[in-house]
Amino acid sequence: MSVLLTNIAELVTNDPAHGGSGDTGLLRDAAVVVEQGRVAWTGPASRAPAADAVVDAGGRAVVPGFVDSHSHTVFAGDRAAEFAARMTGEPYTGGGIATTVAATRSASDDTLRARGRALVGEMLAQGTTTVEIKSGYGQDVDTEARTLRIARELTPETTFLGAHTVPAEYADDRAGYVDLVTGPMLAACAPHARWVDVFCEPAAPTAFDEDEARTVLRAGQRAGLLARVHGNQLAAGPGVRLAVEVGAASVDHCTHLTAADVDALAGSWTGPSGSGTVATLLPAVEFSTRSPYPDARRLLRAGVPVALATDCNPGSGYSSSMPFVVALAVREMRMSPTEALWSATAGGALALRRDDVGHLRVGARADLTVLDAPTHLYLAYRPGVPLIHEVWQDGVRVPR
Ligand code: NIG
Ligand code: FE
Repeated sequence: MSVLLTNIAELVTNDPAHGGSGDTGLLRDAAVVVEQGRVAWTGPASRAPAADAVVDAGGRAVVPGFVDSHSHTVFAGDRAAEFAARMTGEPYTGGGIATTVAATRSASDDTLRARGRALVGEMLAQGTTTVEIKSGYGQDVDTEARTLRIARELTPETTFLGAHTVPAEYADDRAGYVDLVTGPMLAACAPHARWVDVFCEPAAPTAFDEDEARTVLRAGQRAGLLARVHGNQLAAGPGVRLAVEVGAASVDHCTHLTAADVDALAGSWTGPSGSGTVATLLPAVEFSTRSPYPDARRLLRAGVPVALATDCNPGSGYSSSMPFVVALAVREMRMSPTEALWSATAGGALALRRDDVGHLRVGARADLTVLDAPTHLYLAYRPGVPLIHEVWQDGVRVPR
């Protein structure tokens, strides 16, 4: 059965063939035909083909469903008090991760599943149709594997982050923990994961240095996982260059970059090795840790593809909202509203090496978000306002 969604004031396709500024492929007075879960046609409403059913978008804007390529949404407990302390002057060090590890280890599968489901539901209601979920609050074989099994029920984009921090029981035996992560933990987790990630941050005492991080990423790759990296969040360091070296799809945070880091990222798209590493920026973390925002313009000037994601997690930033992230990127990182939307959709897809989402080209997964607004500019223009009129996933309108 085909459905024609018409009377769309502004349709952002991210299809360069349609023109528009950047690669947004922006059409006005447009329509979309959806069939068998895919985009079958896009173009001017006046030229739309017939379909089995017609839905009137009421002169609203339609954008691709958001692709949130970085979240930690299967965990237990909360750290609201840690957040409150930060807002009155405490720094963010990553030390609170241990609190979530303790709560997650003692939580039942049902408790973890309920939290993960609730957060993914929250995301969907805010226009996110593709989400990545990491483990990393288990830090033992059983809890890491449980986390990933549950995450897999919620999304195919699951990431093994056993090397999030070194748990307390291994504080005096870091090498032993790396052995555990790259041995039995990886073996138990790899069947449930697509990606391997590591918190490479020598400035944080419980996170991983360059050699440890390389060991973890290479072991994950040998087990068939694709690499992504948490890097350069708290200070400049080796994370970005390591990500490029191993051919990671993305390096996330990128809050503190040197000129060499920016060159390495840009070179990954043009140089002979050509791994193509996306810089994923997570401004809801800077908001919630009261840190300086990453320099998005510098990356864009250098030609580095930028993705935006929430990093939804109980510690460094507990927002599940891509519209909030878009608004922050525009206000605080000087991205244009159009650049920010691209990064929150096509950029996220690139960071997940997915070509079926993040755009509305013919053949794309029919994941789209109808905004209660005449243009995507409203995402940043009206921050904090519920602008999601309805969401379509796999060609089906999500019940509210
Ligand atoms: O992406 N940087 C490391 N990990 C998470 C935060 C985890 C936490 O504080 O619980 C992040 O910011
Ligand atoms: Fe993260």
